[in-house]
Amino acid sequence: MEIKKKIKQTWNNWRASNSDAVKILVTGGTGYIGSHTVVELQQAGFEVYIVDNLSNSNIDVLNGIEKITGKMPVFENIDCTDYVAMDRFLSKHEGIQAIIHFAASKAVGESVKKPLLYYRNNVVSLINQLELMSIHHIKGIVFSSSCTVYGQPDVLPVTEAAPRKTALSPYGNTKQICEDIIMDTIYSNDQLKSIILRYFNPIGAHPSAYIGELPNGVPNNLIPFVTQTAAGIRDELKVFGSDYNTPDGTCIRDYINVVDLAKAHVVAVQRMLENKTKKNVEIFNLGTGRGLSVMEIIKTFEKVNKVAVPHQIVEHREGDIEQVWADPTYANEELGWKAEESVEDTLKSAWKWQKYIMKKADK
Ligand code: UFG
Repeated sequence: MEIKKKIKQTWNNWRASNSDAVKILVTGGTGYIGSHTVVELQQAGFEVYIVDNLSNSNIDVLNGIEKITGKMPVFENIDCTDYVAMDRFLSKHEGIQAIIHFAASKAVGESVKKPLLYYRNNVVSLINQLELMSIHHIKGIVFSSSCTVYGQPDVLPVTEAAPRKTALSPYGNTKQICEDIIMDTIYSNDQLKSIILRYFNPIGAHPSAYIGELPNGVPNNLIPFVTQTAAGIRDELKVFGSDYNTPDGTCIRDYINVVDLAKAHVVAVQRMLENKTKKNVEIFNLGTGRGLSVMEIIKTFEKVNKVAVPHQIVEHREGDIEQVWADPTYANEELGWKAEESVEDTLKSAWKWQKYIMKKADK
């Protein structure tokens, strides 16, 4: 609490001496984590500019953001791999001080089938942002990375010092390559700063239920599949394996509330702008520090929402890691940020969101 108050105080002082609202570019700002981050940024007083090609999101997300914050962010439909369009956008909106770069493709299975799509979307778009930062005098970039870079860690909970393991998919490889590109670029240019955030498993939705996760087609991730099964859209959830070396035999992950995750981006961007970073590139794990199994998630979801999730144990899913959860101490202490929402409330928010989108579709 004490650290949080201090961060708020220094931020308020910094804002007072930089009287205009601070402009932030959020690439992929209509996506799942992006939209929740835009809400938190706007609520913290930032002026948000979104570019997104809507390849895995819906323009209607902007209305959800406006409903929550009372403010419509600036938006343009731009593909971040389009250097010329990005350059034009940044020239038009002068004075952007930092980028939060979410725009990327993220389906592990799809990346195996379409590797070049993933290398182009994820790597080229990052290179464009880094090149344009120097041209447009943008000070820092917050990058969305993933705990996927650790593979199956040898020691749990996993700290930022753990070695990265060979990626199991082109998607995972793009995250490692992007981290390396950032480090090389920042070390070559001491005017730039970056904070790399390694997300564990973000779940849930905004408590208002005006924004949440909207997967295209059949969901790959656990929680959207759980909510759609509970809603009767899917007949049954397949639990991928029950003979792993874990207490109940199902895989373990560190599930983090998406609003908690979004808040970490606000803290990270403030830290860069106030020149509080200890190094020009910093890396933080964003997780709760608690691992939960697939069966624990299903049971908790059923209990808190009083709804059944029909499920069946099936074979392992190829490429799944047995167990991983974060040691978030470094983020807790350095950023003064901590995941606060309980998994119970988070799973309630996921169900509330599922019911909200179904009601909306009925209208
Ligand atoms: N699972 C099921 N049934 C399903 C879906 C998932 O049993 O229908 C299980 C998985 O086997 C896994 C757990 O639920 O044990 C979580 O799976 P998710 O697909 O939700 O998440 P992952 O941990 O596999 O991967 C996610 C993102 C990746 C990211 C990774 C680490 O999808 O993009 O977290 O950050 F790289």
